Amino acid sequence: MGLRGEFSPRSLLITGASSGIGAALALAYARPDISLRLIGRDALRLEAVAHSARAQGADVEACALDVTEQAALADCLLAWDDARPFDLIIANAGVSAGSGGGLESEAGLRHITDINVVGVINTLAPLLPRLSQRNQGQIALMASLAGYRGLAGACAYSASKAWVKVYGESLRLTLAPYGVRVSVICPGFVESRITARNSFPMPFLMTAPKAAGIIQRGLTRNRARIAFPWPMALAVSVLAALPAGLADAVMRRLPKKNG
Ligand SMILES: NC(=O)c1ccc[n+]([C@@H]2O[C@H](COP(=O)([O-])OP(=O)(O)OC[C@H]3O[C@@H](n4cnc5c(N)ncnc54)[C@H](OP(=O)(O)O)[C@@H]3O)[C@@H](O)[C@H]2O)c1
Repeated sequence: MGLRGEFSPRSLLITGASSGIGAALALAYARPDISLRLIGRDALRLEAVAHSARAQGADVEACALDVTEQAALADCLLAWDDARPFDLIIANAGVSAGSGGGLESEAGLRHITDINVVGVINTLAPLLPRLSQRNQGQIALMASLAGYRGLAGACAYSASKAWVKVYGESLRLTLAPYGVRVSVICPGFVESRITARNSFPMPFLMTAPKAAGIIQRGLTRNRARIAFPWPMALAVSVLAALPAGLADAVMRRLPKKNG
């Protein structure tokens, strides 16, 4: 199968499906002809999402796993892929934390990097060779508008999402000759457990189901980058294109994530 035309996946893996954007994506895709395989840490919340997706007719299996558990995750993903080969992998699991204005702890930096970066590697590594051998399928990587430019007080989060964004851009070019589609998702503020902790104004904050609809449409059309909402994406793109000193001056005035 080539890379042109719309793509309708039938067998999906979604990590971080137990809440927020991942849960909304699971429900956006859930239909009778769809198989969903869901990963998250909180077994109760994950099962609640699986239950709702089954009620919409999807074939659903869920496994409570931490994406940093490399071996256990690989075993689970390979067994699922053996039974029903994946054609869309959404590496969405992630955490966020800010330090207000102060220094992030080393433990915090390692925690975010382990989940947001190494967790993505752990999710993709067992499956990439299979997708490229099958010469079809799609990979969606959850980055963020926070990865366009280093933000004050969220060094680890910004850097982790910059890694995901650039890795995904590179992977898209690398896997195109194998017929595998890759998209990078860069949301602004979306209602979830991550943004519920923010005490500052969040421009253009949108609901998770609305974000899931935008992401699903972008993936169907094989968009390289699914960045939204557009006014935030435009503002962040302009900021990232400014000379570094000027961008720093603007960034210093923005509110800093705390907690
Ligand atoms: N909300 C936003 O404004 C926004 C903007 C840009 C990007 N994002 C990104 O979107 C993704 C989803 O976040 P969200 O906003 O929907 O927040 P959320 O409601 O907190 O969801 C995060 C999901 O990731 C899972 N997760 C976290 N650590 C995990 C781990 N070690 N192993 C397995 N699963 C793990 C959580 O599962 P458990 O709770 O069960 O552990 C949960 O299902 C993240 O990558 C985030 O960085 C969010």
